[in-house]
Amino acid sequence: MQHNAFSKFLKLKSAGEKIAVLTAYDATFAHLLTEAGADALLVGDSLGMVLQGAPDTLAVRLSDVAYHVRCVRSGAPDAVIIGDMPFGTFQISPERAFANAVKLMAAGASIIKIEGGLTMAPTVRFLTERGIPVCAHVGLLPQWVRAQGGYKVQGRGDTATAVREDALSMEQAGAVTMVLEMIPAVLAAELSTHLQPPTIGIGSGRDCDGQVLVLHDMLGLSAGARKRFVKNFMADAESVQDALIAYVQAVKNGDFPAAENAF
Ligand code: KIV
Repeated sequence: MQHNAFSKFLKLKSAGEKIAVLTAYDATFAHLLTEAGADALLVGDSLGMVLQGAPDTLAVRLSDVAYHVRCVRSGAPDAVIIGDMPFGTFQISPERAFANAVKLMAAGASIIKIEGGLTMAPTVRFLTERGIPVCAHVGLLPQWVRAQGGYKVQGRGDTATAVREDALSMEQAGAVTMVLEMIPAVLAAELSTHLQPPTIGIGSGRDCDGQVLVLHDMLGLSAGARKRFVKNFMADAESVQDALIAYVQAVKNGDFPAAENAF
């Protein structure tokens, strides 16, 4: 099992090699993604939408993520696996967050992911000081969709300061890597230059240290209007495996995301 995910990511960042990440939820895709060269697999709470058919991620349970982490670990014994902490499993107290994070680690996660900035910093510090590597998630926070009334680009104009503070607080709290979701490409480039933890962008432009997409989106399987930051890699591929390889290569050589996929 991959125990040094942080050093793997840091090594890629300092070598200037982009980090290619995709979501995975089962053993078959975990194996295919590993064969395609993905650097890490994210068992995201996006499973609530793409597997469970819910309108958002808010009803996903910790046991759902733990189950899918176990499936992904079976298919990819040596992969870096990021397990997503669902809504309500980490906000009440750092102690509760630790107990829940331990369940994802026991299921096979290498790193756990927590949505939120400044207000979650004490929790991230509590976990990292007790041996749990944390992937922070700042910018657009899908778990806040009902509070914020939709999925909107974060950090435009004056609100860039708040995103900067969120990212900095996560670095200071010890986050080993950071998802930057739907923030302006210029802001993501600035953060990626100045922060030590490698940044993994989604809808945040090509200058992040790595990229992540939801598997079903990049295979053109998701319902609803096409999202601007998504590319359908199945469109030009002859097989699912070719599409996965094309994604990894496009991230590695900087072809994805293109300007049209950014804000
Ligand atoms: O749940 C998820 O898949 C995510 C990614 C969209 C970053 O958080």
